[in-house]
Amino acid sequence: MIPIFGVAAEYKKIRKDLRKAALEVLDSGHYILGPHTSAFEQEFASLMEAKHAISLSSGTDALEVALRALGVGPGDEVIVPTFTFVATAAAVSIVGATPVFCDVDAKTLNIGAKEIEAVLTHKTKAIIPVHLYGSPANMTEIMELAHRRNLFVVEDCAQAHLARWQGKPVGSFGHIAAFSFYPSKNLGALGDAGAVTTNDSALANICLETRNAGRGLTGPTYEYARVAGNSRMAEIQAAFLRVKLKGLKERTDQRIEVAKFYEKKFSKLPLILPPVGDGITQPVFHLYVIRTEKRDELASHLKEAGVSCGVYYPLPLHRQKCYQHLNLNPAAFPNAEKASQTVLALPMHPFLSKKEMAQVAQAVTSFFKGSRSKLNQESLSVAS
Ligand SMILES: Cc1ncc(COP(=O)(O)O)c(C=O)c1O
Repeated sequence: MIPIFGVAAEYKKIRKDLRKAALEVLDSGHYILGPHTSAFEQEFASLMEAKHAISLSSGTDALEVALRALGVGPGDEVIVPTFTFVATAAAVSIVGATPVFCDVDAKTLNIGAKEIEAVLTHKTKAIIPVHLYGSPANMTEIMELAHRRNLFVVEDCAQAHLARWQGKPVGSFGHIAAFSFYPSKNLGALGDAGAVTTNDSALANICLETRNAGRGLTGPTYEYARVAGNSRMAEIQAAFLRVKLKGLKERTDQRIEVAKFYEKKFSKLPLILPPVGDGITQPVFHLYVIRTEKRDELASHLKEAGVSCGVYYPLPLHRQKCYQHLNLNPAAFPNAEKASQTVLALPMHPFLSKKEMAQVAQAVTSFFKGSRSKLNQESLSVAS
C-alpha cells in the first residue's frame, strides 16, 4: 500500500542522524529546555523570518498559548473556519472564549475577509485563519480587515511550514503564529511538539512564561506572576527537529514537484485540483487534496489498487457533537458542507518514488476511465 504520509520513509533515510541526535541528548543528561531547544528556536525563527520562536509541546498547545498571550478569554469571540482540524476551535474553547465558525471560500477552502466579515460582532477579539493543507489564506485582506477592526490574528500554520503568501512565509503576517510538529507534518518531530512564532517581543515573553508554569523570566525561580500550565517541548524532540529542519526546504520543493506531476496527470479528469502555486501564493502540500462528487467510490477504487487515501475532514466543526451547544445551522456553511463530502487526499510526501507516483496517477485515471465507460453503457441502455 502506498502511504499518504512519508513518516516511515523519512525515518529510514535519516535514521543514522536521528539516532546520533537521540544518543547525544540521552548522554547529556539535559532533557528539558537545553541547548538543542534554544538552537532549534533560533534556527526555526530564522527560517520562518520571525524574530522569536518559542517551542511548545504540541500545535494545540501553541494555539492555546498564543490565545492566552493575547489575553483572549471568557466573553471573547474568536472567528475560526468550520472546515479545519478540531484543535483550531478547541484551543479557543479551552481558554474560555467562544469559537465562532465561518464558512470557507468554495475555491480555496480557506477563509478570507468576506467569510470573516459575515460573522464579525462587537465581541470578536481575534481571528484564526488556517492555511489548510499547506495552502496560504489571503493574508493581505485578512490583515487589512484585522487592522481596520482592531482584531488580533493568530495564524494556524500547523499544515503550512514554509508556504509563502506574496513572497513571505506564512506565520509572518499575523500577531502570532502556531505550528505543529506532529510526526506526519511537513516538519515532524518523533512525538508531539509545536511552536509559536512572533515579531512582538512582549508577546514572546508572555509565551515563554506561559509554557513554563508561569515562571517569570527574571526574578526568583519559585515566584510566579501568572497562573500557567506546562507546555514545554522535550529536548530530544528539539534535537530531532534540528536534524529534519536542515532538509526542510529541499523536501518542500520535492512536495511541490509531486503536486506538479499530479496536476499534469489529472488535468483532463473531472476533478477539482488544488492550485500548484503562482506569483502570489506558494502552497507546500501537507496534503494533496482532490475533489469529486464520486469521492467514496474513488476512495474504494484506490484502496483496491493499493493506494492509500484519506478524508480531511469528513465532518465540519459545526456538525461535531462537542459543538452542538452552539446550535448552528449547517445551511450557513454550504462550502464547508460540500467540501466535507467531496475532498480526498492522495499520497503526498517527498519520498514518493517515480514508480509510486505513476501508480497513484494510474489508479486515479483508471477510475474515471472505468466510470466513464460504465456511464456510457448506462446511457446507452436507457436509450435503447
Ligand atoms: C490545522 C491544524 N491545527 C492544529 C493542529 C494541532 O496540532 P497538534 O496535533 O500538534 O496538537 C493540527 C494538527 O493536526 C492541524 O492540522
